[in-house]
Amino acid sequence: MTKSDVIVLITGANRGIGHAFVEAYLAHGAKKIYAAARRRADLDKVVALDPTRVHPVVLDVTKPEEIKAVATTVSDINVLINNAGALSFGGLSDISDESLRRDMEVNYFGLIHVTQAMAPLIERNGGGAIANLLSVVSLASMPGIGAYNASKAAAWSATQSFRVDLAKKGIRVFGVFPGPIDTDMAKDLPMDKTPPLHVANEVIAGIEAGAEDIFPDPMSKQVYAAWSKDHKAVEKQFGSM
Ligand SMILES: NC(=O)c1ccc[n+]([C@@H]2O[C@H](COP(=O)([O-])OP(=O)(O)OC[C@H]3O[C@@H](n4cnc5c(N)ncnc54)[C@H](OP(=O)(O)O)[C@@H]3O)[C@@H](O)[C@H]2O)c1
Repeated sequence: MTKSDVIVLITGANRGIGHAFVEAYLAHGAKKIYAAARRRADLDKVVALDPTRVHPVVLDVTKPEEIKAVATTVSDINVLINNAGALSFGGLSDISDESLRRDMEVNYFGLIHVTQAMAPLIERNGGGAIANLLSVVSLASMPGIGAYNASKAAAWSATQSFRVDLAKKGIRVFGVFPGPIDTDMAKDLPMDKTPPLHVANEVIAGIEAGAEDIFPDPMSKQVYAAWSKDHKAVEKQFGSM
C-alpha cells in the first residue's frame, strides 16, 4: 500500500494521541481519514484540519450498535488505529467494580469488538494494517492503576491472537507500547512526557517498516531494552514507583 492509498479509521480521534494521528496521517498524504469520537461536536476541530479528507464518525467503542453502524460507513478502510482508551485510578484491592469494568470495556472488549467489525472490511479491500495502542504497563504493572494495567496486558494478549488470525487475511497487527505521553491521560504524572505527534509519526513509520511491536518514545525504548534482559527487574522497578 502506498501512502496515498491509506484510508484509515482512528478511534478516540478528538484529542490526545488520536488527534495527533489525524495530523500525522494528513501530513503523510493519506487519502481519507475517518476520525471517530463519542460525540460529533468534539470532532469539529479535527475535521477543520482538512474537511475534504477528514470525515467525522460517531463511535463509542463500548456500544455494539454504534460499531455496527460505523462499519457500514467506513467500508473502504485499509488501516485501523485502535486508539480509544480509558484510565481509572486505584489499586486492585480497593478500586470500584465500575472503574474495573470501565477500563476493560474500553481498552479490551472495545478494541476486540471494533477489530472484529473492521477486519472483514480491511480484508475485502485487499488487506492492510491494524495498530493497537497498548502501554508499557502491558509488560509490567505500576501501582495505583490496577484496572488499567490488567486491561492493557489483556489488550496485548488480544493483539497477539489477532496477529495470528488476521495474518491469513492479509492484515498485519501492530502493538504500540507508549511510555508517558503529553495528553490529558497523563496530565497528573510528574514525569518527562513525549509529544503525541511524535508517537503518531513513530507508529506510522513502524507500520511501514513492518515492526510488529512499536516502542514510540525514549522511555518505552529503555523499558523494552531492560525488560528483554530481565523482566523481573522491570516488574520490581515499576512496582516501586
Ligand atoms: N498518555 C499516555 O501517557 C499513554 C501512555 C500509554 C498508552 N496510552 C494509550 O494511548 C491511547 C490514547 O491515549 P491518550 O493519552 O490520547 O488519552 P486521552 O487524552 O485521555 O484520550 C483518550 C481518548 O479515548 C477516547 N475514549 C475514551 N473512552 C472511549 C469510548 N468508550 N469510546 C470511544 N472513545 C473513547 C476519549 O474520548 P472522550 O474525549 O470522549 O473521552 C479520547 O478521545 C489510549 O489507549 C491510552 O491508553 C497513553
